Amino acid sequence: MTTARLAGFDVRWLEAVTSTNDVARELAENGHEVGVLVVAERQTAGRGRQGRRWESPAGNLYASLLLRPARSMANVASLSLVVALVLAETVETLAAGYLRPQVKWPNDVLADGAKLAGILLEGSASSQGLCQWLIVGIGANVCWSPQERVGYPTTDLHTCGLKDVQPGDLLAALAAPLREALSQWELDGFAPMRQRWLARAAGLHEPIELRLGHRIERGTFEGVDHEGAVLVRSTTGEVRRFTAGELVLG
Ligand code: BTN
Repeated sequence: MTTARLAGFDVRWLEAVTSTNDVARELAENGHEVGVLVVAERQTAGRGRQGRRWESPAGNLYASLLLRPARSMANVASLSLVVALVLAETVETLAAGYLRPQVKWPNDVLADGAKLAGILLEGSASSQGLCQWLIVGIGANVCWSPQERVGYPTTDLHTCGLKDVQPGDLLAALAAPLREALSQWELDGFAPMRQRWLARAAGLHEPIELRLGHRIERGTFEGVDHEGAVLVRSTTGEVRRFTAGELVLG
């Protein structure tokens, strides 16, 4: 294991793990303090949202951050929007502006309409519903993407033209903006970053499907509210907010 300090994060770089979220979770359950960032070269059992597998060969970025936000578990979901936003902005900076990644509610970063990165939040709540620990898992495709094997288009930084970028470069570029965004989120929540998020939102005002377990809500994607909940306009014109679900762009 290699350790380093990066923008105030305590980085622990490992070779192969089941999932960086597993390692961070173990630290959390053993009472480790916040700010540890577990990074791995590769994962043998990487996971995505909705119980999906996250293929994790060497060459991409796999990182998990341990946080203990002082809020209820019901109020942490907007963090995946915040981290996806900062990641999209960081990629744009690395690309010197020629690539403008988009964000897709709630946790994806897209480049040219294909998935470049995803965020996975996992946490534990007290019996009163307070967040005890929260792991922010970040998976970003740097030199490889699973292509059509996952059922949606995917891409990676090298394919997008950022051929010299390595996972460590992306992490180094991400660390300071991430630290700043986390501080802002801890103080004021998602609201101050909402306009930035909307400015790069994929599918805004376009037809979408929101998959809610067995139910599907169809309508137009009208963005997100100040808490990061998705807003969907139904065919009758009514706008409804949802805090969970799988957004499928039309
Ligand atoms: C998604 O889009 O479904 C979220 C993907 C999150 C993948 C990352 S890779 C680092 C961390 N460890 C995991 O097992 N998953 C997250």
